[in-house]
Amino acid sequence: MIPADACFGCEGISLALGGRVILKDVSLFVRRGELLGLIGPNGAGKTSLFEVLSGRYHQQQGSVFLGERRLDRLDIHRRARLGVARTYQSPVVPNALTIGETLRAARKAYAPYMSAHDAEWAARLVRLEAAWDRPSGSLDTFDRRKLLLACLMMRRPTVLLMDEPASGLINTEIAELDLLLRKLADEYHLAIILIEHRLELLGAIADRVCVLDLGVMIAEGGPEQVFGDERVRAAYFGAAA
Ligand SMILES: Nc1ncnc2c1ncn2[C@@H]1O[C@H](COP(=O)(O)OP(=O)(O)OP(=O)(O)O)[C@@H](O)[C@H]1O
Ligand SMILES: [Mg+2]
Repeated sequence: MIPADACFGCEGISLALGGRVILKDVSLFVRRGELLGLIGPNGAGKTSLFEVLSGRYHQQQGSVFLGERRLDRLDIHRRARLGVARTYQSPVVPNALTIGETLRAARKAYAPYMSAHDAEWAARLVRLEAAWDRPSGSLDTFDRRKLLLACLMMRRPTVLLMDEPASGLINTEIAELDLLLRKLADEYHLAIILIEHRLELLGAIADRVCVLDLGVMIAEGGPEQVFGDERVRAAYFGAAA
């Protein structure tokens, strides 16, 4: 059941690609200020679900909602304008542009256009400390992720879908990322759905966790409860469970 205070989510999503069933009757929701972890083994369908939620793939059945509004007929750009922001597994930045130019391009991409002040605010928010005249392509993985996140945060989204934002980061960077995500949820009331493989990372920061296995949502609940679930342990750790 989707609760009345859910601000974003989906109900009964089924997706087939090239004749293969990828998602089966998947539902999830997130509230404002809530950080929902989405876990599952490789190939479970986590990224495909993000493609459906963000509007790049279109499901055969089910519905995606933002508040009271159904998003199913809207493409990825319309959904982004309405407040659905998403990051990708690989942090691809425009190599030929400097940080300043990348932020400027991002603020001009969405009407109503943002001011330079919005870009400065977003860069400070994510603690992007590199000089703005540096080429974006010269940044390390964490700064690339920060730059892309700053581009999204300028638009003050309602929901942020993050696909494995900790991959390629070292432990101190992951700790900083954790703090940042909690801050975005707690202080900016952003609804965050976070795909992450490391259970311990989600245990520390997620309010709730959903588990996908072979395209089916097999568990949902508090991190402790979900990580202790036998089906989850079997799906996640296989023979080691
Ligand atoms: N465009 C596509 N066409 C056909 N099959 C696809 C397509 N995209 C994904 N798949 C298949 O859907 C299944 C789920 O893939 P998906 O990338 O969503 O999994 P995931 O849970 O994100 O995995 P990972 O943890 O490895 O990132 C996989 O079997 C994949 O091969
Ligand atoms: Mg994936």
